[in-house]
Amino acid sequence: MLHLPLEKIRPGMITAQNIYNDRGVNYLMSGVPMTEAYLERLDELGIGSLTVFSTETKNDSVVNVELPRDVLDKKTRTEALKNLRGIFDDIERKKTINISLLKKPAHNILEDILAHQRDLVQLSDVRQHDTYTFAHSVNVAVLSGLLGIILGYSPANLITLILGGLLHDIGKVVVPREILNKPGRLTKDEFDIIRMHPTAGRKQIDLMKDEPRAHLLGLIAEQHHEHMDGRGYPFGLREDKIAQLAKVVAIADVYDALTSQRSYKDPYPPHIAYNIMKNLSVGQFDRKMLELFFKNVAIYPVTTVIETNIGIGIVKKVHFGQTLRPEICMFADRKREFLEEPFILRLMDEPGVDILRVFNDEELLRFIDEKGVDPFVFLEKKYPRRNYRAGKII
Ligand SMILES: [Fe+2]
Repeated sequence: MLHLPLEKIRPGMITAQNIYNDRGVNYLMSGVPMTEAYLERLDELGIGSLTVFSTETKNDSVVNVELPRDVLDKKTRTEALKNLRGIFDDIERKKTINISLLKKPAHNILEDILAHQRDLVQLSDVRQHDTYTFAHSVNVAVLSGLLGIILGYSPANLITLILGGLLHDIGKVVVPREILNKPGRLTKDEFDIIRMHPTAGRKQIDLMKDEPRAHLLGLIAEQHHEHMDGRGYPFGLREDKIAQLAKVVAIADVYDALTSQRSYKDPYPPHIAYNIMKNLSVGQFDRKMLELFFKNVAIYPVTTVIETNIGIGIVKKVHFGQTLRPEICMFADRKREFLEEPFILRLMDEPGVDILRVFNDEELLRFIDEKGVDPFVFLEKKYPRRNYRAGKII
């Protein structure tokens, strides 16, 4: 998988991102070959780079490789985005939330994720400034729902969680667009304004009459930036003082923000997001929930090229609950020479094999240039499964 500047993208390369247009409704799905028309559109939209699964070009989306699918049906995602946008517009104009607009999308989201709950999530979108909040909120709803399922929540709680994910940033309607869409660093004053959105969101939700879930939805909006160690905002609440559902949404929110592409930042690959959330943000999240969350998310997604202590491989499959130990196709030795016979290694069964590092985009491009082969081709053929025992491949 590679994140490339647009001028290096050719028609036929398989995109690894969902691409939204400026209304946030029509998009090219991950897994589909890029076309000349989409490239032109991306250029017009000022999107300068894109993630693709491979530099290889294809005529259609049928390849032999099991590429990760979107958890959501295209229709579910489109409808959720459209109705969420409607709700934000309504608040700006009429100051009310018509939550019934979101109930059907929330049920559809739950149905889709229940149908795919053993598939690992690999979310990645290209979003414009204006559509960022909607696209982000739909992903937060999906990721929250998935974590809720592993936590064993009841269907009623799962719907609340998904609605809470959709509405968590509703308070952003009070933040001026110039601040919300400002590329790069915010001044202290601007950040103070952004920090008002949780309280504003709670107030918006409290205005809903006759909605039995309003209290919980309000807590999610109000507390999704609180940290377990009390260093969050707006109140600096600690551990048990933070609502469970808000803790779930907080994890989904940060993960999606880190791994998404904005005009001013490239997306972090999932293994970096994992490291940031697990090791660099100690005290921010509920640790148990975080651990469960990363059982659902591909830390080394399919097509990631990794270096191990016995050579170089490309991730072929990721198994639920084993996200740190994927199934890989080994194709080169440690000196970067291609193997005569590539083979499949299931890292979850191989305690002797360690992942040393992940090839970043530049390294992978250099490797492809040097060798004239994109490691993706090794995923398209069948190779035997082998084991690594006592320093030997058997
Ligand atoms: Fe937020």
